[in-house]
Amino acid sequence: MLTLAPFLALLGLATASPFDKATTLSDCLVSSGVPINTPGSADWKLDAAPFNLRLNFTPVAIAVPTTPKHVQDAVACAAQLGIKANAKCGGHSYASFGLGGEDGHLTIEMDRMNKVALDNTTGIATVEGGSRLGHVAYELYQQGKRGFSHGTCPGVGVGGHALHGGYGVSSNTKGLALDWMVGATIVLANSTIVNASTTENSDLFWAIRGAGSSMGVVTEFRFNTFEVPEKVTYFVAPVQWPTEARALVGVRAVQEFAKTMPRELNMRLFIAKRFINLEGLYYGDKAGLQAALAPLQKITNATLAVATTGGWLDQIKHFGGGINLDQGHPYSQHETFYSTSLYTKALSETKLQEFVSYWFQQAKTNPRDWYVHIDLHGSDNSAVREPAEDSTSYAHRDYLFMYLFYDRVDKGLYPADGHAIMQNFARNLTQGLDKKEWGMYINYPDSRLDQESAQAYYWGKNLARLQTIKKAVDPNNVFHYPQGVLPAA
Ligand SMILES: Cc1cc2nc3c(=O)[nH]c(=O)nc-3n(C[C@H](O)[C@H](O)[C@H](O)COP(=O)(O)OP(=O)(O)OC[C@H]3O[C@@H](n4cnc5c(N)ncnc54)[C@H](O)[C@@H]3O)c2cc1C
Ligand SMILES: *[C@@H]1O[C@H](CO)[C@@H](O)[C@H](O)[C@H]1NC(C)=O
Ligand SMILES: *[C@@H]1O[C@H](CO)[C@@H](O)[C@H](O)[C@H]1NC(C)=O
Ligand SMILES: *[C@@H]1O[C@H](CO)[C@@H](O)[C@H](O)[C@H]1NC(C)=O
Ligand SMILES: *[C@@H]1O[C@H](CO)[C@@H](O)[C@H](O)[C@H]1NC(C)=O
Ligand SMILES: *[C@@H]1O[C@H](CO)[C@@H](O)[C@H](O)[C@H]1NC(C)=O
Repeated sequence: MLTLAPFLALLGLATASPFDKATTLSDCLVSSGVPINTPGSADWKLDAAPFNLRLNFTPVAIAVPTTPKHVQDAVACAAQLGIKANAKCGGHSYASFGLGGEDGHLTIEMDRMNKVALDNTTGIATVEGGSRLGHVAYELYQQGKRGFSHGTCPGVGVGGHALHGGYGVSSNTKGLALDWMVGATIVLANSTIVNASTTENSDLFWAIRGAGSSMGVVTEFRFNTFEVPEKVTYFVAPVQWPTEARALVGVRAVQEFAKTMPRELNMRLFIAKRFINLEGLYYGDKAGLQAALAPLQKITNATLAVATTGGWLDQIKHFGGGINLDQGHPYSQHETFYSTSLYTKALSETKLQEFVSYWFQQAKTNPRDWYVHIDLHGSDNSAVREPAEDSTSYAHRDYLFMYLFYDRVDKGLYPADGHAIMQNFARNLTQGLDKKEWGMYINYPDSRLDQESAQAYYWGKNLARLQTIKKAVDPNNVFHYPQGVLPAA
């Protein structure tokens, strides 16, 4: 077959595929002393396997640094060859952004760098950029009975999580993971390594607390910590809402309650195919939880099926689904799914009705194993709302609700048109709203968004400043991925 490609390549006209440079890239990495995975090896397969098997991408090479210098050299090789590079920490991005979100990137697999060291006198934890949340929580507890606020899955990487938000069952009481970050060491696109904090490279520090993946590779975080409470109470309170009318009464009551719920209570409404739960964590004992929930139970008929008082690690294990907390390498957990997300303020009565009617009339026809989490994210008393809106690049502090729409298959492929049912669930809520009245969460990315929409929904009013900082630190977009921040024009 006649093809023009070789001629165009000779003339330097074709856009060379990054895979054409695979050998050159590997040679560069090896001669710089950067450890790599051999294509096809067991480690390659493990490191290239995304959490979401629906979005499988092939890297051009996988670097496996064990030192910051390795990260610098890996970035230098990629930049020099015009290859895009992305850090991968826990690999839990729903859109496989740790692999670059498309074929042909250099994956910088960070998970061999996972040291956690607590300074008992300052309470500052130094956490390497490839650590998983369960390992971090376990170490902070062992080293000094301390912790910080973050999400629930032990395998999630602190890298992706804390650089873009980090919402969890302590967030109403203690804020987002990124609110506990006091400093970071970052390899930039020109392979220099810098520190960032409120007093050093403060623009960069602002940018990495919300959009870190677009700015560089964090080799080390410094987090403030708190002394963990002796006793907390985790709970599950199922509701039975068999009709649209009762679900409307229930959701409306949850919304009213959410607006002013007490600081000590952390809660989500978990709507699944087969059950509806209120669930969360109370900073206090069972009696305190019962008193806090009583007014809501009266209207929703929620029954307190689980209310267990225990220590800090007990609740982490409970929410972690029972798997071993201390996760490192190797790690292999996967699902096959489409997901999307939303933030909104309190819903109008019309929107509440539309939400419930879509749920009962459309979502319930979905044959797959779907769920919608509605996190009570920004109540009046929420610690998430405490920092000024522009104190970090996380753009969504003021929203009452954070939604995750999740639709998975247990085996086989996710259907090509499967996304519509969840996408319409979300669209149903935003239709007719002004752009300023809703947003989306980059840690619950929708793989179907184009880059322009994604940037606007994820970073809202902070986008222009982020693009300016991006231009200063990564003008050639070395850390590109399909929904990342683009450099200012
Ligand atoms: C089972 C599960 C449960 C979850 N639960 C929650 C939850 O409770 N709350 C919540 O807020 N989110 C939750 N998430 C979402 C999670 O926070 C995000 O997917 C997060 O981005 C994952 O980070 P990661 O390091 O594991 O992912 P990766 O895919 O490795 O990385 C995600 C992004 O961060 C970048 N990145 C990673 N490490 C670094 C680094 N060191 N330096 C620079 N950039 C880096 C990557 O390049 C990529 O763009 C959950 C996800 C899963 C799969
Ligand atoms: C830190 O504090 C904890 C609990 O107070 C203690 O058990 C641990 O030994 C201390 N670690 C160091 C390194 O001082
Ligand atoms: C960054 O800060 C850490 C901790 O203070 C220090 O050890 C390190 O040398 C600093 N690195 C750079 C590049 O300034
Ligand atoms: C709660 O229970 C009462 C009494 O059975 C019932 O009338 C009401 O509809 C229920 N409310 C909800 C929201 O399910
Ligand atoms: C939302 O969904 C409901 C139920 O399917 C439908 O009646 C309504 O028209 C939808 N609203 C919008 C704005 O799409
Ligand atoms: C690397 O980039 C940073 C951020 O733009 C810049 O401050 C620094 O001078 C650059 N270093 C070199 C060696 O070019």
